[in-house]
Amino acid sequence: MNVTARTMPALLAASCPVRTALAATNLSSRSFTISLQEQPVVRPVSSFYNHAAVDIAASKPSVRLTPSAMLYSGKSADGSHLLRSAQYLHKELPVRIAHRINGFRGLPFIVGCNPNILQVHEMYIRAFQLLSQFPPVKDFVDEQKFTNLITELLDDHRDVVTMLAVGFRECRKHIQDEEMVRMFLDRTLTSRLGIRIIAEHHLLLHENKPGNVGIITVNMNLKKVIESWADFASNVCQHRYGKVPEVKLNGHLNASFPYIQQPLDYILPELLKNSMRSSIEKNDMNNVHPITVTIASNEVDFIMRFSDRGGGIPHQNLDKVMEYHFTTAAKEDQADSGNGLSTFLEVCNPDPHGGPMYGYGFGLPTSRAYAGYLGGSLEIQSMQGIGTDVYLRLRHIDAKHESFRI
Ligand SMILES: Nc1ncnc2c1ncn2[C@@H]1O[C@H](COP(=O)(O)OP(=O)(O)OP(=O)(O)O)[C@@H](O)[C@H]1O
Ligand SMILES: [Mg+2]
Repeated sequence: MNVTARTMPALLAASCPVRTALAATNLSSRSFTISLQEQPVVRPVSSFYNHAAVDIAASKPSVRLTPSAMLYSGKSADGSHLLRSAQYLHKELPVRIAHRINGFRGLPFIVGCNPNILQVHEMYIRAFQLLSQFPPVKDFVDEQKFTNLITELLDDHRDVVTMLAVGFRECRKHIQDEEMVRMFLDRTLTSRLGIRIIAEHHLLLHENKPGNVGIITVNMNLKKVIESWADFASNVCQHRYGKVPEVKLNGHLNASFPYIQQPLDYILPELLKNSMRSSIEKNDMNNVHPITVTIASNEVDFIMRFSDRGGGIPHQNLDKVMEYHFTTAAKEDQADSGNGLSTFLEVCNPDPHGGPMYGYGFGLPTSRAYAGYLGGSLEIQSMQGIGTDVYLRLRHIDAKHESFRI
């Protein structure tokens, strides 16, 4: 591939708010082009095969932040919080990306050679190169240029999850060690989530959105967030089946607290789509049972239970549904059957129907990995013959007890 500043692919993906946030930062591609022109010429990826800078960065530990540190780090009238935030990212991002590059280096040769996986590996190397060559951020002019670079990298990496899903599916027959794939994907996807959260936090600190501190919603109303994703999933479901189960909410409907909504923007539509699919496919179309979402919030964490009457997960599949790529989608409905884009793109996708209902077998394993990264868990209880309960448990970010780190 002919790599230029404009075609350079780069880092990580998530949700619609991200894209909105990127657009809202009002950072023109022109200013990015100028900043990249000031960079040295991009070297071929092969020159990084033995590159000492990657090894040095990969040997450093990552400095992960608690969300409450992000929330309370304070906003200075003189804007110095933006400088501090950029300086932190300038140091931290190359370290995190070098760890990921090491992960790609550890893949079996035949897997690492898959064109999609290799392309993502190259994207991480180029992101590492651009970030590590960026001069120290000393003033607001540097900070703006650095912010432009972050914006572009976030945008360029938006399809990474899809590329990995396609790549690993393509080389499935060569994989003997399923556990290796699971660990690689868990680490790569959660690290990517963390990188995107801290990078988007920096971009959003530039905005003065009422009720938000960077990426943190100071008073997030959980019911409203669930309702908005229920609407989204209902649209997808309506488009796929011409019918939608009702979604009922109960429990702590007034629960509001500070949180980072972005991971919920991935997990909630995935769980709701799964429940809607089983409710429709396992029931008489004229008698579709509602889905019930129960909210509980306490001092330590908040829990959501998604209950459906979609027949449950059969005994023989129960151990498999958390495996990457396990899906009961018919071949023609699977995401790489050429019938459309990815489930991961759908949130960002301008497709009016919101993308496919199912297809990669990534919804549950990715959601569980994200929940674990955020100090929580995702558990399934199947009542075969009746339905499924999925429990999503997440820690509060202002918990009195030790919270998770991003
Ligand atoms: N609530 C549920 N009821 C019954 N089966 C379920 C439920 N949730 C998940 N499953 C089963 O688990 C499988 C894996 O779910 P997962 O969400 O990981 O992948 P998918 O829905 O097939 O594809 P996608 O990557 O688009 O989410 C599904 O194909 C389905 O067979
Ligand atoms: Mg799914």
